[in-house]
This record gives sequence, C-alpha cells and structure tokens, in this order.
Amino acid sequence: MTPPVPGTPAAPSILEPLALYGAAFAADPHGHYRKLRAQGPLARVRVAPDVDAMLVTDYHAAVDLLRDTETFTKDPRAWQAGVPADSPVLPVLGHRPTALFTDGAVHARYRDAINDTLALIEPHLLRAEVTRVAQRLIADFSATGTGDLIAQYARGLPLHVFTASFGVAPEDTERVVRGTAGMMDPAADATAAYDELVGVVTALVAERRRRPGRDLTTYLLAHPAGLDDDETVRQITLIMSTGHDPTTNLIGNALLRMLSDTGYGGSLHGGAMTAHEAVNDVLWRDPPLANMGAHFPRHDTEFHGVPLRAGQLVLVSFAAANTQSPPSFTDPAARSGDGAHLAWSTGPHRCPAKQPALLMAMTAIEQLTSQLCDLELAVEPDALVWRPGPFHRAPAHLPVRFTPLDSVPEPAGPGARQATDHVPTRVGGTPNG
Ligand code: HEM
Repeated sequence: MTPPVPGTPAAPSILEPLALYGAAFAADPHGHYRKLRAQGPLARVRVAPDVDAMLVTDYHAAVDLLRDTETFTKDPRAWQAGVPADSPVLPVLGHRPTALFTDGAVHARYRDAINDTLALIEPHLLRAEVTRVAQRLIADFSATGTGDLIAQYARGLPLHVFTASFGVAPEDTERVVRGTAGMMDPAADATAAYDELVGVVTALVAERRRRPGRDLTTYLLAHPAGLDDDETVRQITLIMSTGHDPTTNLIGNALLRMLSDTGYGGSLHGGAMTAHEAVNDVLWRDPPLANMGAHFPRHDTEFHGVPLRAGQLVLVSFAAANTQSPPSFTDPAARSGDGAHLAWSTGPHRCPAKQPALLMAMTAIEQLTSQLCDLELAVEPDALVWRPGPFHRAPAHLPVRFTPLDSVPEPAGPGARQATDHVPTRVGGTPNG
C-alpha cells in the first residue's frame, strides 16, 4: 500500500480506499458496493489495515478477469512477499500448493483429482448423511425452545459431513472442526488452526496409504493424477476449508431470508418462502463468498480502462457484480434458475462443488424447518450482527425461538450407519473404472 503522506488531512477523500474489514462494511456492504461502482469497474479497497486491493464490481469485467488466464495468475507469492507476515488476510490469500493457487497444467492435475473425488459422492447418500448430522445437531437444542442457528447448527454441519466423507476418526473430528473454523476466525490464531487441521489430515493420509478404506481420502490417493502424500493432504484441507465457511453461510443466510421475509410475515407458517427460493435469492443478493477470486496481473497492464501493476492483488466482488442490475437480476423470469449469477465464480477456478454444496444446504434447511416448524427470529432482523471481514457475508448469530420438542426422530436408520457409507463401493477400485 501507499504509505500516508505526512500532513495529509485525516478526513477520508473519494480516493481514500474504502475499508472492507470493519463493522461499517459488515453492516452495509451494498452501500459500499454502490460507492465503489461509482469509481468505475474496479476500485481500490483496503482488505486489512496494511493491505490494499483492486476490487472488480462490474459484472462483465468480473467475468473477463475470471476467464483471462493469459493476463492473470492465481499464484500469490510475488504479492505476498510485500505483505506483513501476521496479516489477517494471509490465512485466506497466502500461497499453498493447492488447486486454488495454481495455474495451467498444475492446476488441471489437482482439479481433475478434486472433481473426480467429489463426483463419487452419491446424492442420495449425501442427503442421508446430512439428515443424520442435522438430526443430531437439532436434538442437542430442540428441547430448550431457543437456539442460535449459526453456532448450534449451520457452523458444525458441513464439517461433520466432510469428516465422515473423508474417513476422519470420530475422536479427531472435533480437532478438524476447530482447525477449519479457526482459519476464518479473526479472534483465533489462524496459523495454529491451519497447522492443527494439516496435522490431523496428514495422519489420516498416512493411515490410508497403509490401510485403504472406503472413503474419499482413499480414493484421492488412488487417483491417476498420482498425488503424493503432501499434495493429497493439501487438497483435502482445501476442500474442507473452502467448503466449510461458504456452506455454513449459505445455510445461515437462507434461513435468515426465510425467517425475515416480510412477504410471509416473518414466519415459517402458511406457505412461507421455500428453501429453494431462499437459497437462490441469497446466491444472487448475498453470495456467501462475497469478495474473492484473487488474481494477480502477470505484467503491468490496463484492464477495462484501469491500469494495474504486475503482482498486485485484484479481487472480484461476486456480490457487487451480481447486484449491478444486469437484466437477469431485475427480471425474475430470467432469475428463476441459477442462470448467470457469479456466486460459484466462473472460469477455471469456479467452485467444483456446486451440486453437493446445494444439496447439503437444501437438506439442512429442510430438516430444520420441518422439525422446528414454528421457528421465528428472537430479535429484529435489523438488530442482527454480521461477521466482519472482507471475504464473506455471514450473520454472526441467528437467535431463534420455537416450541420445544419432547423428542426428535432417531438420527440413524435401522442398524447404525457407518460414517463412510455414503461413499460408493467403487472407492478404492480403479478411479475411472
Ligand atoms: C461442499 C461444499 C464446497 C466445497 C467442497 C467447495 C470446494 C471448492 C474448491 C476446492 C474450490 C477451489 C477450486 C479451484 O481453485 O479450482 C472452490 C472455489 C470456490 N467455491 Fe467452493 N466449495 C464448496 C461450497 C461452496 C459454496 C456454498 C459456495 C458459495 C455459494 C462456493 C463458492 C466458491 C467460489 C466463489 C470459489 C472460487 C474462489 C476463488 O475464486 O477464489 N463454494 N470451492
């Protein structure tokens, strides 16, 4: 960033980058996007006290950037060299040997392994696993009549499903949950959290190398890409860390939409907004990953009329691009599918897990709203606090009340299911066979 010039007035001018990391942005992101759009297709923002970025808010510029592998690289190392080592954005943007931070053939190799592994997840078995986890989480608070749907439901659900899919031993599950959640928590030591996650997954990969199981870890090790142990560990931790927070936020944001929708009187009674409508609305208006898609110009360049320096951080605002009022946003007919919003990004690094993530979110919402069917918010929507941070859009808490339940359905069907039962039998065989 440019150091402040001594003697310059403290009052922010139009050229002072808007900060995306504080409470003001969390309280009104769309107000910030409006101001940024007024500056052009890209505008300078501050993502941490010492770190500036160019943020793309224009829809077409966003699509162009996300597909332009000639001009931009995903490798952050040149940029990272100038960022303080303790910067809070490094746990998210700092380099790791994974699909997210690589280009070309290296990326394709990791991406194929990830895609083929995720493709093994049988939808009906994933739905059964999410249902099992959901029922267990609901049972923990359903007798009380009150709860926080983020802390007690949405936050834990994706990770418990991932740990089962990858064959993490039940006694290690809490360490994975703690490690993954800690990476995105500004109050936690993110480096220690990531190290804890890597430690558990490293032991798991070594164990599966010795004794293959029926889980996604075993499959990833057997994939023709021939990933070594460390590469396997890094792709698993990528899947867990990249999958956990946005799925939590998709569930949380959609539940909030359903519980606060004024068209239905703010309750789930009588033909309320469906889970599908709520999820679709959130993906357009408040995508869980609001600003991401980190790219770095390979050389000095001009992009959509804006000069960019080699190696500088350029982020894409999926939220601003989605709400720029392209015809597809204002025309409900064109929005009815999942059409052209950018919530899953686009280009070679678009989310590879759209289908399982949607299925997890929908199942989680349906389970909750069908069991606690008179759920209502325990505070006014305006009183909700949003988690600060430049990357996500996420309510910090979702306090609710409901009629306490005496009991909930048994989580497991007849004969306790194995944690890995939702992985089909071809795992462990020849991956493409
Ligand atoms: C099952 C849950 C999920 C998993 C396993 C998952 C996994 C991943 C992975 C591995 C990548 C990196 C792909 C690459 O670089 O080639 C990625 C990227 C991405 N995912 Fe997901 N994801 C999940 C849920 C979600 C959800 C719910 C959203 C938001 C609606 C989302 C949005 C994105 C976006 C926008 C990117 C691109 C990030 C960037 O450009 O920096 N993902 N995801």
